[in-house]
Amino acid sequence: MLPTQLPTQSQVMDYFHSYANHFGLLDCIQFNTKVVDIQHTGKETVASLGLWGKNGGSYADGRVWQVGVQKSNGESIEWHHFDFLVLCIGKYGDLPKIPSFPPNKGPEVFQGKVLHTMDYSALEEKQAYKLLKGKRVVIIGYQKSAMDLSVECAEANQGENGHPCTMVFRRTHWILSEDYMCSGVHLAYLYGTRFAQFLLGKPDQGFMLNSISYLFAPLRWAVSKFVEFSLLWKFPLRKYGLIPDHSFLQEISSCYTGLFPNNFFSKAEEGLIRFRKSSSWSFSCKGIILDDGTELEADIVVLGTGFDGVKKLKSLLPNKFGDVLEKSAGVVPLYRGRVHPRISQMAILGYSESLSNLHSSELRSQWLAHFISGKIVLPSIKEMEAYTDMYENYVKRITPFYWKSCHATFQIADNDHLCRDMGRNPLRKNSWFDELFSPYSNLDYAQDL
Ligand SMILES: Cc1cc2nc3c(=O)[nH]c(=O)nc-3n(C[C@H](O)[C@H](O)[C@H](O)COP(=O)(O)OP(=O)(O)OC[C@H]3O[C@@H](n4cnc5c(N)ncnc54)[C@H](O)[C@@H]3O)c2cc1C
Ligand SMILES: NC(=O)c1ccc[n+]([C@@H]2O[C@H](COP(=O)([O-])OP(=O)(O)OC[C@H]3O[C@@H](n4cnc5c(N)ncnc54)[C@H](OP(=O)(O)O)[C@@H]3O)[C@@H](O)[C@H]2O)c1
Repeated sequence: MLPTQLPTQSQVMDYFHSYANHFGLLDCIQFNTKVVDIQHTGKETVASLGLWGKNGGSYADGRVWQVGVQKSNGESIEWHHFDFLVLCIGKYGDLPKIPSFPPNKGPEVFQGKVLHTMDYSALEEKQAYKLLKGKRVVIIGYQKSAMDLSVECAEANQGENGHPCTMVFRRTHWILSEDYMCSGVHLAYLYGTRFAQFLLGKPDQGFMLNSISYLFAPLRWAVSKFVEFSLLWKFPLRKYGLIPDHSFLQEISSCYTGLFPNNFFSKAEEGLIRFRKSSSWSFSCKGIILDDGTELEADIVVLGTGFDGVKKLKSLLPNKFGDVLEKSAGVVPLYRGRVHPRISQMAILGYSESLSNLHSSELRSQWLAHFISGKIVLPSIKEMEAYTDMYENYVKRITPFYWKSCHATFQIADNDHLCRDMGRNPLRKNSWFDELFSPYSNLDYAQDL
């Protein structure tokens, strides 16, 4: 059992070890082994838009996947053959998103040090502190990695010889404190109940519900404004020029709502974190140049520019799947958040997100286990594509930031689909009142997890 307070690193490690031992997982894992190549010996893509294999089952063509692995000691590649491939290689690691620059405006002209937050995270605590202490640091980006780093930078630069660090970003986002509270109301009551998500609408609702949703548009707007005013009242967003140009509803619908670390604004008040908005920027020999021509001198520039998860997938999968893998930029269309309609006998985990990923991810993995063991039959490829297109078009209508699959505003409806597919009751509360007005969370699915 995990303690009720947030566990420490060693408690998390102990939990993983005991979990793996209890379920006998260690026998199924080859550690220190990298998948370096994947070959596909089946059809090019699914040419006809019929079913994935016989009757929509998981195995269409037998052992179509050849997976080349290499041990960390650099031995030659070993090939393994599989019927079904599940990719869980993580979207937020290994491949950083590095901005590109015209000649003589990139990192090559800068005399200081440039690194990505991924490299920074790999440092030991003492090394990281030493790197930042007494340095003029510029952090690019205004999301979670950049914010976390800005506070660490501020902490390392307190007192004598300290320098403020400067966050440089092209766009601000609506950010929340770690308690998720807005004027005394927890965000889960505004966006995480069945009633709230009914007001927001869902992609696959019929004409009747669409019309009701349309009528509720002013209420949706009012809730979004309520959150915006609460955040403006609670945090010095105006003072630092951090008010976003878009609505909170657009932010939350795109899964970009970040949580800022506890002492983010107190460090800004101490003058240890500064903010500069700039639509573009480039390197100079002394630092970086902003869109108004200002030069910010720096010893270190840290790129908190995120990760390129889709490129990572493409680099591993055979070229022939490259064209179909990504529908809109950054978005891998996945039926039930797990399978790509056009790549049969394969599932992808970790590429479809929400505000609370834990139970969705677990439910989707259970759905996948049901599917692989033959308890769920897929609809035709054409129908699966219609489903992923419908989701895409729906989210695009709500938010201009459709850069990753996000189901935050219709997560309960999505979970309902998964439960029904698995023959489970999607209604998880004890009373109709709770069913409508009590937020859905991990605990509601705990009996199945
Ligand atoms: C700095 C940072 C902090 C974060 N903190 C949080 C947080 O507090 N809460 C939260 O919910 N999310 C957090 N996230 C997001 C986090 O990435 C996901 O929540 C979570 O780790 C996703 O799990 P995953 O299993 O999909 O991918 P990962 O945890 O990234 O796991 C992927 C695994 O696949 C392995 N792998 C990749 N390629 C290969 C290959 N070719 N061969 C063999 N193995 C391979 C990797 O080594 C890795 O072990 C954070 C992300 C970052 C970058
Ligand atoms: N403790 C934690 O829980 C924790 C810590 C770190 C990360 N994470 C998670 O890890 C994931 C990745 O987070 P992240 O912060 O690393 O990346 P991210 O969410 O992708 O944010 C990238 C940031 O870099 C900016 N950016 C990208 N390219 C740029 C460019 N060329 N010029 C200027 N700015 C650029 C983006 O600006 P735009 O907004 O304008 O695109 C954005 O502000 C998220 O899911 C996050 O929640 C969690």
